[in-house]
Amino acid sequence: MGFIEEIKRRRTFAVVSHPDAGKTTLTEKLLLFGGAIHIAGAVKSNKIKKTATSDWMEIEKQRGISVATSVMAFDYNGYKINILDTPGHQDFQEDTFRTLTAVDSVIIVIDCAKGVEAQTRKLMEVCRMRKTPVIVFINKMDRNGNNAFDLCDEVEKELQIKVRPLSWPINQGEKFKGVYNIYKKQLNLFTPSKQTISECVEFDDVNNPELENYIGEEDAEQLRTDIELIEGVYPEFDVNTYLSGDVAPVFFGSALNNFGIKELLDCFCEIAPCPQPTQTVEREIKPEENGFSGFVFKIHANMDPNHRSCIAFVKVCSGKFERNVNYKHVRQGKMMKFSSPTAFMAQKKETVDEAYPGDIVGLPDSNSTFKIGDTLSSGEDIHFKGIPSFSPEMFKYIENADPMKAKQLTKGIEQLMDEGVAQLFTNQFNGRRIVGTVGQLQFEVIQYRLEHEYNAQCRWEPISLYKACWIESDDKAQLADFKKRKFQYMATDKDGRDVFLADSGYILQMAQSDFPHIKFHFSSEF
Ligand code: G4P
Repeated sequence: MGFIEEIKRRRTFAVVSHPDAGKTTLTEKLLLFGGAIHIAGAVKSNKIKKTATSDWMEIEKQRGISVATSVMAFDYNGYKINILDTPGHQDFQEDTFRTLTAVDSVIIVIDCAKGVEAQTRKLMEVCRMRKTPVIVFINKMDRNGNNAFDLCDEVEKELQIKVRPLSWPINQGEKFKGVYNIYKKQLNLFTPSKQTISECVEFDDVNNPELENYIGEEDAEQLRTDIELIEGVYPEFDVNTYLSGDVAPVFFGSALNNFGIKELLDCFCEIAPCPQPTQTVEREIKPEENGFSGFVFKIHANMDPNHRSCIAFVKVCSGKFERNVNYKHVRQGKMMKFSSPTAFMAQKKETVDEAYPGDIVGLPDSNSTFKIGDTLSSGEDIHFKGIPSFSPEMFKYIENADPMKAKQLTKGIEQLMDEGVAQLFTNQFNGRRIVGTVGQLQFEVIQYRLEHEYNAQCRWEPISLYKACWIESDDKAQLADFKKRKFQYMATDKDGRDVFLADSGYILQMAQSDFPHIKFHFSSEF
């Protein structure tokens, strides 16, 4: 197969949801359809249950699982599907955001009874920022939930995106009979089954009087009315509005029972984008360019204290990546080659000789050569952008608890931050180090890993902060004045940029009104 065909057949995406909406179950069913696994239950959820916050063995175990499922690749109907897994636990949200920078599209799973939930909203914000095409899958239709039209309205309102149903449920809860595939104009009926892929009966016209034989008079009538309403209310589906991130096609189903998944997958393969151009500081990189380029969006450390080793996950953006060929590590300005890059086919990790745009390769990195956001290229000095850090929600001073191990602590903190475990800010006034996280769990992860991987001890001390804002201004005088006045609250991030640490919403508001020429950003990409 030619290079261009290889690119065109790739679909690299993430399934995201609020915890418990059914992300893991849907992913598993997609793998079943792809023949990548043969029985349900083979994909373990990588979510860290809330009860496990202080159970380290559990977290390690779960992290172990999540490396195995970081990328799940399989072939389906001639397409090469790359599903990028994202952590379910909200304390690892930053990981999810970074993974979203490596995908070309997203499937959002929503629980039909719970509707749009907090994390779904946040995830959608990131998609909107990047104009990532989104398909919505409304799950758990075998349970009583909200009315399908109301759900569509809720998605439009809460996620601020126009929707277009492409499948429609026939009843709900115990009476759920399947879905009408609007996109293909087929009626697909399913037998509930958790273990095997159900056979579907095909039926290609809702107005055919035989419809009653399949779903009964009442449901047939309802379906006809619903479809008529849909065609009246929503504009005809235009794939370009989906690709531009303006309209989200909506599918209904039940992941657990295999209802509606095949419709979703088939339509997804047809309409979802193949690898798209990526922006670097210097220029736009097209996938079909000859020169290889890619960026590190995730670093996964194994937590074995005896041999610290990492895998850097690289998204191939252009050209062909080849084993044992020299590539440039742009930040370090040096050439390096990789003798055992891995790819993730189904659930197996194996060494690969080549990878194409859209693929993810895992590069073993025992010397911590890579940082999140690093660029690899055939030689050109380009820098991929768009891996944002968001203002953390929780902050603590990190202090050395063992004076003999200061060096180890510094090295450990530095490497963990490069891995993107949390964010480090250094107070410009007193030099104290402040770690910012999204949740309590990350502080525990850091302390544990410092101890076990770096033989260093840390202690947390409280600091009351509301937000970290990256500041910039064209008005140099005002910026200097602000930094002088707020000197106790000025910090530097890992890239040496100025960050204002606001200790309350009120203080931040005051600062914004007193210094109108300063821009306060809540994410590092601006
Ligand atoms: P997540 O990754 O988004 O967090 O969700 P996950 O797939 O783990 O699903 C959360 C729970 O919802 C699971 O139940 C799962 O079986 C259930 N579920 C998923 N899809 C459907 C569906 O279509 N219908 C119904 N009725 N339930 C669904 P659990 O009891 O938390 O876990 P388990 O013990 O079943 O594994």
